[in-house]
Amino acid sequence: MATDSWAQAVDEQEAAAESGQLQTLQIQVVQLGNLKPMEKAKLQKKKTKPFSPLCSKPQLLQGVYAMGFNRPSKIQETALPMMLAEPPQNLIAQSQSGTGKTAAFVLAMLSHVDPNNHYPQCLCVSPTYELALQTGKVIEQMGKHYPEVKLVYAIRGNKLQRGMKLQEQIVIGTPGTLLDWCSKFKFIEPKKVKVFVLDEADVMIATQGHQDQSIRIQRMLPKNCQMLLFSATFEETVWNFAQRIVPDPNIIKLKREEETLDTIKQYYVLCTSKEEKFQALCNIYGAITIAQAMIFCHTRRTAGWLAGELSREGHQVALLSGEMQVEQRAAVIERFRDGKEKVLVTTNVCARVDKDGNPDNETYLHRIGRTGRFGKRGLAINMVDSKMSMNILNRIQEHFNKKIERLDTDDLDEIEKIAS
Ligand SMILES: Nc1ncnc2c1ncn2[C@@H]1O[C@H](COP(=O)(O)OP(=O)(O)O)[C@@H](O)[C@H]1O
Ligand SMILES: [Mg+2]
Repeated sequence: MATDSWAQAVDEQEAAAESGQLQTLQIQVVQLGNLKPMEKAKLQKKKTKPFSPLCSKPQLLQGVYAMGFNRPSKIQETALPMMLAEPPQNLIAQSQSGTGKTAAFVLAMLSHVDPNNHYPQCLCVSPTYELALQTGKVIEQMGKHYPEVKLVYAIRGNKLQRGMKLQEQIVIGTPGTLLDWCSKFKFIEPKKVKVFVLDEADVMIATQGHQDQSIRIQRMLPKNCQMLLFSATFEETVWNFAQRIVPDPNIIKLKREEETLDTIKQYYVLCTSKEEKFQALCNIYGAITIAQAMIFCHTRRTAGWLAGELSREGHQVALLSGEMQVEQRAAVIERFRDGKEKVLVTTNVCARVDKDGNPDNETYLHRIGRTGRFGKRGLAINMVDSKMSMNILNRIQEHFNKKIERLDTDDLDEIEKIAS
């Protein structure tokens, strides 16, 4: 299962880090800010296109607006007409994390189900337990005013009685369980499925076995079933997989310029020890107001230590790490999302690394991409502690063609400036 391989990946990283081979970016602080009035005005001046032409069911529109979505994002605007066309069209879509892909296909799934039919019509595969839960939550929220549509989670631990047939119209889960439910247990009749969604294809193929399981599910579906695949990145391996899952696809790729880091200011701080990093962090907290922060650490030990130090300083800290149970991790993420904790300290549980064990560019983007969404301002601060981590930082600057400025955290005025 995904969890075990995650934990294993963390273990490997830790072993490497502790043997001194690995010294990469250690701490990254991301600040979530509010829109400045100027930015708001700019947004409003842009012709706002509403959601209504993209969605014909009033009860779904109600759900969309209740979630605070006023205008569709670029990917939503482009993908929804294809996904809702008659006859259904297949789609492979790529855009940066946080651009609204999940919300887009959730709306498409909800639009396609017939609530009068009491059997699964939409299957959605997610690479992890947490993501399945998260996406399920989006389905529940968006479908809040459409209570006839029911959802079930095909995840490990959700045991059903042998011989039963599912009545729910939407099934979301991880590939292994979903495959079992279709083939071994026959809880689902795959031939009746109208929409098949594969989310986070790039994460999916990183887990051993998921690719084959997904393909086996896909093969059981009828020819006219709509196939949709989403990914934040599109390396060749993802692309090859996508083509096996989605025959005859429409393809949407948002250009790099459109997946900018423009709303995120990036800095680096030079530090030599973990104590110095902690001091830098304290100085930053002392100078500016940080709504919420995620701090990525290399090892569990550092993460544990840092979480302890921060709570001694009076912060409400949550700690997320690889050895925790999936349910525990989901609960931690949920509390952080709800704002119950203001600082989340985490090990590289879901990081992708390149062959040298360094976080790759996509991981960096993925991390800092968690902020700066939908015009929110964000701040990313990288702690650089060695020549090697400086090299990584330089590579990231080159890749994104964006300068990462040095920040002197002993200078409070300078820190104040970055927040303005
Ligand atoms: N049209 C929209 N307007 C405002 N917020 C949106 C919109 N679409 C999605 N969001 C929000 O943006 C965040 C990222 O959306 P999500 O669909 O999860 O993106 P992705 O799947 O591309 O990572 C979520 O918090 C979601 O609620
Ligand atoms: Mg998503």
